[in-house]
Amino acid sequence: MKKLALTCLTASLLFGTGMVLADADASIEYRQSVYKVVKWHMDSLGAMARGDAEFDADAALHHSRQVHALSFMAKEGFGEGTQGGDAKPEIWANWDQFSGGMEKFQEVSGAMVAAAEEGTLQALRPAVGQMGQTCRTCHDNFRN
Ligand code: HEC
Repeated sequence: MKKLALTCLTASLLFGTGMVLADADASIEYRQSVYKVVKWHMDSLGAMARGDAEFDADAALHHSRQVHALSFMAKEGFGEGTQGGDAKPEIWANWDQFSGGMEKFQEVSGAMVAAAEEGTLQALRPAVGQMGQTCRTCHDNFRN
């Protein structure tokens, strides 16, 4: 018990109010990092879909699954009071719309995994196109 209390004390000293209110700088770094990793995986999928890279069914499935997993991670980086980075203030003013965009990200990337499971470029291509469109729509609305 004593040890736990000490750990909590140390944590609150380290993170200060960050334990309660999301720290803006840390949140911005977190969400930008998530999106960087998203891009890493989307770049490979995009190259295959465009025919710039040879289609590889295993790689397509791997990258799709990673994008889908990441689609659940970005949102927590947009806590209240974490305005900044390239995020538009409209995110917090239109939270439901933004949140809907995040859900769309999850849905569309899930569909991309299903398409990749088919194991053909023919199935993958439209799913990657739809994913790219979903990225662009949110960026048009909510990113500077
Ligand atoms: C629901 C909204 C939304 C969706 C969907 C979305 N993004 Fe973003 N993205 C943002 C916002 C907002 C930022 C700006 C974050 C910041 O700077 O604080 C961003 C930033 C980025 C960045 C820049 C990260 C950096 O280095 O600063 C990249 C790259 C990116 N997104 C790629 C993607 C890709 C690829 C997809 C689709 C697979 C995607 N995003 C889907 C909202 C979204």
